[in-house]
This record gives sequence, C-alpha cells and structure tokens, in this order.
Amino acid sequence: MRNYYIAGNWKMHKTVAESVALAKALVAELGSCGERVMIAPAFTALSAVADVVKGSRIVLGAQNMGPDLQGAHTGEISPLMLKDLGVTAVILGHSERRHSYLETDALINKKVLLALAQGLEPILCVGETLEERESGRLEAVVGAQVREGLKGVDAAALGKVTIAYEPVWAIGTGKTATPEDADAVHAYIRKVLAGLYGEAAAKAMCIQYGGSVKAENAAELMAKPNIDGALVGGASLKAESFGPIAKFRS
Ligand code: PGA
Repeated sequence: MRNYYIAGNWKMHKTVAESVALAKALVAELGSCGERVMIAPAFTALSAVADVVKGSRIVLGAQNMGPDLQGAHTGEISPLMLKDLGVTAVILGHSERRHSYLETDALINKKVLLALAQGLEPILCVGETLEERESGRLEAVVGAQVREGLKGVDAAALGKVTIAYEPVWAIGTGKTATPEDADAVHAYIRKVLAGLYGEAAAKAMCIQYGGSVKAENAAELMAKPNIDGALVGGASLKAESFGPIAKFRS
C-alpha cells in the first residue's frame, strides 16, 4: 500500500496563538491517521507550533528558506535556524514565490541543494500557468522546473525530495485539475524523473498534487496511480477541513 504525504501550507495566515490552537486541534484529530502529515505555519509561529507537535505524528515544515547558511542577508531565514526550531521539511519554489517574488529555477535549485545538505526534506513545487497550459507549453515548463530544480541532486538524496505539482490556475481559485488531468501531469513528471534517475527511483518518488484540494475531492485525486499526496493551502487552515483530507482513507 502506498504511503501518502499530506502537507498543509498555512501561507501568511494566523497569529502565534491561532497557530498553536490549530496545531493542538490537529494533533488531537490526527492521532490515529496513518498518512504522513506535515504542517507549515508562518516563520513567526514555528517555535510555538514545534512545542505542540513534538512527539506527535505531525511533521513540522517551513514555507520557504533563504539560499545561504548565514551572513549579511537581511530578512532571510537560514536552514540552520529552521533546524534549531525542530523543522524537518521545507516547501521550496511555491508558485507564489516564483511569481510574486520572482524566484528563478536557479535560486530554487540552490535552496533544494542547501536544504538536502542540511538534512531538511524539501518539497519542490512545480506547475504551469493557464497561459502556458493553453499555449501547449505545459510539459516544457513543468519538465524544465523539475530538471532545473533537481540539478546536482544525486540519486542517494532523491528519496528525501518530494515534488508537488500545483497548476498555478488551480491555487486558491476553487478550480481543481480533474483527477485525470492531474494524473497525466504526474505521469509526465515521473517520466522526466525516470530519464534523470531511472525507472525504479522515479516510481518510488512521492509526487503531491496541490490546488484547491478539499475533503470532497481528496479521495478521488489520491485514487489516481501517480498522485501520492496533497499540498493543501486554504483547506489546511481549519482542523475541520484539513483533518478529513489527511484521513481521506478512513
Ligand atoms: P490552495 O493552495 O489549496 O488554497 O489552492 C495550495 C497551495 O498553494 O499550496
């Protein structure tokens, strides 16, 4: 049976107190959940949420990190600082970072390599805009994001990487890719991975889907052969909506 990986990206939401309350509700709700579950609060709430999830099944993630270990980088957060708080996973290359903050594949690749070198498990986000999809460039765009994002990642480290396919037009819009459309892109990503690392490594890779995932569509998405989990935004902000997604099998 596949091991699914369900991650909650809280984005720029919640005070420390609100984050702690949600984390406590999730620890209670997901005690018996068999899937791998990660939550990524804002940086400011990581320390407090770390205390709540310690000893639970919930993994603590960050939404981003800087590309350097330390130094004169005003406003950036180092992987050393994340590890210091008990963070073990990090979302990198989210489309909001790519589009609003102009992160390039080269920068994201630098972060992926640094995260791995520091023992953090990156979720590398990829995905096309509607314009790219409609002009027939989906595979070129997503393929390049995968290849460039993983440049220099050796086969031994690949198992620590998760890929999240998040079509930009489906994020926060209520529009979900159909399970069939999403699965087809996941299969393409696996083909790209097979070309880079071989069939066995590509098959073992965890590829999450993200973009308006909710309790109502989670089971249908996850039933597809190439969808191994979900990266959830809006629906991860409440235990009542995230809990059922993580427990989609029960
Ligand atoms: P959404 O966000 O679930 O609100 O569409 C997903 C994401 O951006 O990771």
